[in-house]
This record gives sequence, C-alpha cells and structure tokens, in this order.
Amino acid sequence: MEGLRIPGPTPCPAEVLEAMSRQMINHRGPEFGQILLDVTAKLKQLFQTKSDVFLLTCSGTGGLEAAIVNTLSPGDKVLSVSIGFFGERFATIAEQFGAEVVPLRYEWGQAADVGDIRRALEKEPEIKAVLVTHNETSTGVTNDLASISAVVKEFDKLLLVDAISSLGSIELPVDDWHCDVTVTASQKGWMVPPGLAMVSVNEEAWRAYEKARMPRFNWDFGKAKSYLEKGQTPWTPAVSVVFALSVSLDMMLKEGLDNIVARHARVAKAARDGVKSLGLSLFAEEKYASNTVTAVTAGDGLDIKKLLKIMREEHQIVLAGGQQRLEGKIFRIGHMGWVSEEDIEAVISALKAALPKAAVP
Ligand SMILES: Cc1ncc(COP(=O)(O)O)c(C=O)c1O
Repeated sequence: MEGLRIPGPTPCPAEVLEAMSRQMINHRGPEFGQILLDVTAKLKQLFQTKSDVFLLTCSGTGGLEAAIVNTLSPGDKVLSVSIGFFGERFATIAEQFGAEVVPLRYEWGQAADVGDIRRALEKEPEIKAVLVTHNETSTGVTNDLASISAVVKEFDKLLLVDAISSLGSIELPVDDWHCDVTVTASQKGWMVPPGLAMVSVNEEAWRAYEKARMPRFNWDFGKAKSYLEKGQTPWTPAVSVVFALSVSLDMMLKEGLDNIVARHARVAKAARDGVKSLGLSLFAEEKYASNTVTAVTAGDGLDIKKLLKIMREEHQIVLAGGQQRLEGKIFRIGHMGWVSEEDIEAVISALKAALPKAAVP
C-alpha cells in the first residue's frame, strides 16, 4: 500500500472502508434516520458545539459556499483574512455571489495579525462578516483563531470559519470561540473518504440567515434543518460516506478529542524536527506551524518534482507539492487523521534517502 501523506484525502482505517461496502438502505427510512441523528450528535461533541450541525453532500468548497450564501446578501461588505490559496478561494466565493470583499492579505507562509484585523474593522464599520481560514493547508500555517474571534466578536461581526483541515485534529472549540459558521470536510482529519462537508450553524448565523438574500437552493440551511428534524437530508446524501463517518466518529470518540489533539501535536513535532534534521527549512514560522500539514521550503538546490517522484516510486510514499505560486518552491507532508509518529518517521527516513538523488545538478 502506498503511504498517502498528502493533506487530504487521508488514509482510512479498514473498519471505515468496510462500512462503505454495506448495501444501500432507504435514505428516507428509519434506519438511515437513526444513523444520521447519531452521526450529527457525535459530530456536535467533536465540534464542541450545542448549535446545529449539518452534513452536506459535497467537498469542503461546497461547505464554504454554504456558509456564504446562507448568511450574506449581495452588496454586503465582508473582511477576507487570507493567508494562502484557500483563503483566496473563500474570498472568491463571496465575491462571485456579490459580496463586497475587503481583502486583508498576508504573504503566504505568514499567519494573520490580530492588530491588523482590529484596524480593518475600525476603518470599515459596515463590514458584516469576517472570513477566516483556521488552518491554511496550502502553506502549513494555523491562525490564532481564539484571538481573531475575540476581536471579531468585540466588533460584533459574523465569523465564518474554514476549518476544513483543522477541525477534529487541532483544538477548535466552536462554541467557546464563537464561530458562527464552521466548515470541515470528511476527507481530512475525519479518516473518511471525500464526499461530505460538515457545517455548524449557531444562533447568530441563523439571525443572519433570516436576512440573507444571496441565491441558494442546494445549500439552504433552512431546508437542512427542517429535514434533519425528520432524520433526513433534503437531497439524496452520500449514504456510504455517512456509514463510514459513523464508524470513524466512534473511533474518534473512543480515542478522545484531547488525545487526538495531543497526538496531532506530537506527530507534527516529529515532522518538523525530522525535516530540520535533514537540513531543510520549514516554510511557516514555527510558532504558527500547522499540526496537520508541514510545508517544507525546497531552496534552489532541490528539484521538488523529482523528489516527489522518487518518494512515490522508490519509497511508496506520496507527498504533496506546493499549490499555485508555491509550485516548485515547497512540498508538503500531510499528517492529519489516521497517522502516528511511526508513519512520520518512515517519511523522514525515506526523505533522507531520496534527497541526495533529487538535488539539482
Ligand atoms: C483549508 C481548506 N479549505 C478549503 C479546501 C477545499 O476543500 P475541497 O477540496 O474539499 O473542496 C481545502 C482542501 O484541501 C482546505 O484544506
């Protein structure tokens, strides 16, 4: 088996995959209803929220679009705090649906600065919502969401959070940090194949929903809520992925959220220490380095494309390259979900063997 060490999709435990081979059941029948309600209750525990949580059949991007179209109207001003490729995507979705986006951009590799957010909110009092990526998968940087949220709420703005590659792996108490809409996706730390976005929606977000006028149909939270009350989703869900999620959530609750978060911290430290021991540099400032993905700077002496090929073909380990402007400049090691320190040790020892062969002549 290939060692899949990209930041999603992530490897899935055998029990999770077996659950997906189950025969189909009626998605409007009592058995599926019970599974859906059970999965939703378990997700609420891991989101640390008492608010609504919905399963949407889509990848994470659909969840981001849902967050926007359910809470905003065309012409609304939103502050986009963007530290990378996915922060830009969140802003683009808002723009496409007619929001007036006020950009607060950082050089890729940096984390957002709370003081800047405060100044932006002071300068533009009409801003209605703030879009933030908790963990920027493209750069391996985790924002200080607790501090960002404190400022956003001091100004009484709506907080929409892309937690696609953090929730369930990195500490994110959704209610304590006042995240109004929080989005994650099954193929990340949840140890499940792609196919579901999971989204929390709190009271503040529901108040915004009542006034929101952006066009919405597939992602309408109101429909999701009324169907969930009957143990259903408005449209046919990814039934097999729900089966898989049901099993993975049991595994996660058995391990315990604190233990999961601590394991991710240990694994990430092993990745960072290992990378540095090979003479490579981290792309992110270490203080903000992500516990789910480590981005490594290549420098001029390394051919990343060649490195990834050697890793894949000679060591059966699949790493990720850089996205967009970071292509050829960094590579990334995914370590979220079903991952241990031994998995990372294997990556580091393979890198040690592969690096000399991938040097630029
Ligand atoms: C932080 C973040 N946001 C958004 C996305 C997009 O999610 P998807 O590819 O599931 O649509 C990803 C996927 O890697 C991500 O890591």
